[in-house]
Amino acid sequence: MAIDHFSANRLNRRECLAFAVAGAGLWWQSRPFDLFAADVVVPARHDLLVRTETPFNAEPRLEKLANAFLTPVENFFVRNHGTQPVIDPRAYRLTIGGAVDKPLSLTLDEIAKKFTRVSIRATVTCAGNRRTEFATEKPVPGVPWDAGAIGNAEWSGVRLSDVLKLAGIKAEAKHVWFEGQDQITVNGQNRTFGGSIPLSTVLEGQPAERVILADRMNGRPLTAEHGFPIRSLVPGYIGARSVKWLSKITVSDRPSSNFYLAQTYKLVEENAPEKVAAASPIYEFLTNSAICDVQPVAGTDKFAVKGYALAGGRRGNRIAEVNLTTDGGKTWQRAKLVSPVVDFGWVLWSAEIKVPAGTERIQVKATDSEGTSQPARSPWNAQGYQYNGWHSVLVKKVT
Ligand code: MTE
Repeated sequence: MAIDHFSANRLNRRECLAFAVAGAGLWWQSRPFDLFAADVVVPARHDLLVRTETPFNAEPRLEKLANAFLTPVENFFVRNHGTQPVIDPRAYRLTIGGAVDKPLSLTLDEIAKKFTRVSIRATVTCAGNRRTEFATEKPVPGVPWDAGAIGNAEWSGVRLSDVLKLAGIKAEAKHVWFEGQDQITVNGQNRTFGGSIPLSTVLEGQPAERVILADRMNGRPLTAEHGFPIRSLVPGYIGARSVKWLSKITVSDRPSSNFYLAQTYKLVEENAPEKVAAASPIYEFLTNSAICDVQPVAGTDKFAVKGYALAGGRRGNRIAEVNLTTDGGKTWQRAKLVSPVVDFGWVLWSAEIKVPAGTERIQVKATDSEGTSQPARSPWNAQGYQYNGWHSVLVKKVT
């Protein structure tokens, strides 16, 4: 079948891929178009696409994500709400208080000596990942993320449950609050970044690892951007619950009143304060997937398509299948899962598919082992969270 001359771009128009057939051979080109000049790359820092400079928010080019099960730190998105704090590890103390028998104030050395080191491979994804896809319907405020506000890493540190057990959990305890050291100023008001998770999540599945106080990412100390010296790491939950530059843990009978739990990271139809206050906080991430790379297969009429897929964030829930369509969902072609499949972590997939002439878009849909499949589109919400509709790459004839 002859494919004459194609260009393809992602649905949200942040990046373009151009495909062409020159004579008998296929060639491929990836280039930033002037239209996307907002995608400023700061090479000194990382090869990331900067979505906002201050605070610093940046994500990798999607094709960088599909090659490694563990995302290298230089390709790992950064989501900051305020200024990154500079923390002296010798002066650092982590306090544990609230509904505990024995409040603690621990140095890094004490944390390392008192508790067993554990590790877990888990995905961190921003609740706003893929936010720009809502904008095809109506604009939404917030960092304009493409599908790269996600990464998978091996996190190591100590079990939060071990730390809380040393402090002694009181009977009334139901929630665990986290607070970071970063200062955030919004409209002249100062806040700290924080939030909470149910205590049941901390104790869930033991002795299997789940919530940890992580000091290492992919075998190396956390970088300043990713929360040095310690962050909470809550597998299965949206990234906002994994608090960087962690300074304080409070055990309580109720959820945290921190702005980032009580007043945002919620699914609401409008941002009216009373509606936001009444809505529940988002905890678990949803089943999701994205196409990260599309390449012609030389000498064939096929394209090699690669990407990631993530099962909804519950223990034991894993990706069961990933399917691609070129006809808007009438027919599907199954992709191969090509990476380890673990609880709370993404899986990488790949497929070689025929793209018939006249195809407008290639779309992907993942289904998890609980039987949940991504919807064709996600319902709009005013804060632009948890987009998980079928992810698309546009494929259009240009000549
Ligand atoms: N922790 C602090 N202290 N401050 C922050 O701004 N951002 C949160 C979370 N933890 C944030 C934070 C959000 S919204 C996300 S998605 C993740 O960190 C991103 O983690 P990363 O920057 O390491 O990728």
